[in-house]
Amino acid sequence: MNLIDGKKAAAAIEQTLLERITLLKQRGITPGLAVVLVGENPASQAYVRNKDRTCARLGMFSRKIELSANTTQDQLLQLINELNVDPLIHGILVQSPPPSHIDEQAITQAIDPRKDVDGFHPINVAKLAMEDPSGFVPCTPLGCQHLLMSVGIETRGANIVVVGRSLIVGKPMALLLLRKGVGGDATVTVAHSRTRHLAEITRSADIVIAALGRPHALGSEHIREGAVIIDVGINRVPETSSATGYRLVGDVDFEAVADRCAAITPVPGGVGPMTIAMLMQNTVTACERLKNSR
Ligand code: GUN
Repeated sequence: MNLIDGKKAAAAIEQTLLERITLLKQRGITPGLAVVLVGENPASQAYVRNKDRTCARLGMFSRKIELSANTTQDQLLQLINELNVDPLIHGILVQSPPPSHIDEQAITQAIDPRKDVDGFHPINVAKLAMEDPSGFVPCTPLGCQHLLMSVGIETRGANIVVVGRSLIVGKPMALLLLRKGVGGDATVTVAHSRTRHLAEITRSADIVIAALGRPHALGSEHIREGAVIIDVGINRVPETSSATGYRLVGDVDFEAVADRCAAITPVPGGVGPMTIAMLMQNTVTACERLKNSR
């Protein structure tokens, strides 16, 4: 079994981004990302901190905006309107999920599609489906595709089963793998919580992409000998012996599948670092596009 090293692949992306950021800085431009977090979800707080730190490491500008859980929909919309016209900000991300009184779709639609580095705005979703490269593709699926390509795993003609149908991962992942060309051209099946005979379906896959958000949901019975596994899950499970009181596990039972799969992403250190690298990449692209269109 080979481990697919997300940290290494993310570091390589960061290197290419540094060159693009240097060129922008020579023109007096610094790519800027606004990350908005509403409420105090500990996992979201950790993600937002990580995004902020990565911006700093790359010499990008970042604004981390943390709002209390009782922020109103109107207040949040007002903030987005300000960020949409802020010349220092080229990418806007509102961390998901927001508190339940916030209508997430309304928030997503309020973001200027040219600054929608999450790729969640309907215009960007449509562009992905239409294979129009001028849009933005959601960071996690983009990171998964990049990981497969970076270790030379062929998707063309491969049977790929995506487990999960979320707007953040499952659906855009399927669209991305269906696209024509390198990293696409796959035969894609999307399975989910209502799928019958899940193990039978995932066992037919050359590549399994697990994005259900349930710890250890997939075990050895789900994976055929020689398959490649991309584990998107980042689940906190209680662990008394750990200083934090928890440990991170994926959606796949790593120990159970390790000796049957050909390659697998670890959790942590697999998809997670790639998601952040792709967010930085989308932000640099947004900056270049905005500056070249003026
Ligand atoms: N929550 C989990 N993943 C993501 C992501 O990629 N973007 C946003 N905005 N929220 C998330």
